[in-house]
Amino acid sequence: MKYAVITDSNVAALYGKPDFFVVPAGESSKSLETVQDLASHLFQKGYGRDTTIVGFGGGMICDLAGFLASSFCRGVPFILIPTTLLAMVDASIGGKTGVNLPEGKNLLGSTTFPERVIVQPSFLETLPDSEWENGIIEILKAGLLADPYLFYHLPHLSVAAIIDRAIEVKRRIVARDPYEHGCRALLNFGHTIGHALESLSGYTLSHGRAVASGIVLESRLSHAMGLLPMDDLEIIESHFPPVEVHFEPSQIIKQLAVDKKTRGGTPHFVLLEKIGEPHVKEGKFCHPADEHLLLEVLTESCMCTR
Ligand SMILES: NC(=O)c1ccc[n+]([C@@H]2O[C@H](COP(=O)([O-])OP(=O)(O)OC[C@H]3O[C@@H](n4cnc5c(N)ncnc54)[C@H](O)[C@@H]3O)[C@@H](O)[C@H]2O)c1
Ligand SMILES: [Zn+2]
Repeated sequence: MKYAVITDSNVAALYGKPDFFVVPAGESSKSLETVQDLASHLFQKGYGRDTTIVGFGGGMICDLAGFLASSFCRGVPFILIPTTLLAMVDASIGGKTGVNLPEGKNLLGSTTFPERVIVQPSFLETLPDSEWENGIIEILKAGLLADPYLFYHLPHLSVAAIIDRAIEVKRRIVARDPYEHGCRALLNFGHTIGHALESLSGYTLSHGRAVASGIVLESRLSHAMGLLPMDDLEIIESHFPPVEVHFEPSQIIKQLAVDKKTRGGTPHFVLLEKIGEPHVKEGKFCHPADEHLLLEVLTESCMCTR
């Protein structure tokens, strides 16, 4: 068995070896063109069907290496060694691989599970401060969905314990529904509005910041719909940065129409009943929101920033 290590230029500069396959750091490398270049390079260097691909880097590399492995020689095994907090708790877990298209993010991909994921928290020693938030927000999301202890005690837990617990939340949800026919959709909590904000900002807003606002707004919606008690809402709001929405509610609602959970033109949301407990009704994990309540929540939240 031959191992082909795929990484990005930043990770290579810190931890690289001469025989690594290196792509430029940044989301623009997560493309079909890069997959084709990597596949050609692998063949030129004598890698074939007996290859195991190793994705060594952040979420961009995990998605890219997984997608390459899922199609190289019609599919070879792969191992992921995530090096960002986000990749450790989110991108390397759950088998989603893929690349971006000019039309949008993650539009081409597959659900293919790695042979193994190796999580080594010491890689985080070199992670820039600005990258931590993206991971922390997904960890808080995991806590809100299924691990209230993690949500409440995050500042007092070791990084290794935080990573373990967040992985466990995602692993359990994915194990019950690997191909997203049901409960896996819960992982989209905060992401319906989060993606709309991210996209309206032209991706100048980081994923973490956009999802943080999405989580607070979707929690406010949960409260407005009579599900989440005020006490829980206030605790949630205190754990996230203040919501900064620089768009008109009507723009956001228009953008929500392109969300993958939208059915018959009505956006659907993951809603909370309390911290650690999502709303599940008649076997459904995503719910349509009353349009007036949604508009009200967005209007109030947008006014706060003016
Ligand atoms: N497949 C999934 O389920 C899933 C889930 C969440 C996110 N994602 C994808 O993950 C990507 C975002 O992941 P990300 O935030 O890790 O971004 P990233 O991979 O671009 O990494 C962020 C930055 O950190 C650098 N870096 C990585 N490890 C480092 C280290 N140890 N020390 C210093 N610098 C390091 C990278 O070079 C990059 O500049 C997006 O493409 C997103 O779509 C996928
Ligand atoms: Zn996310």
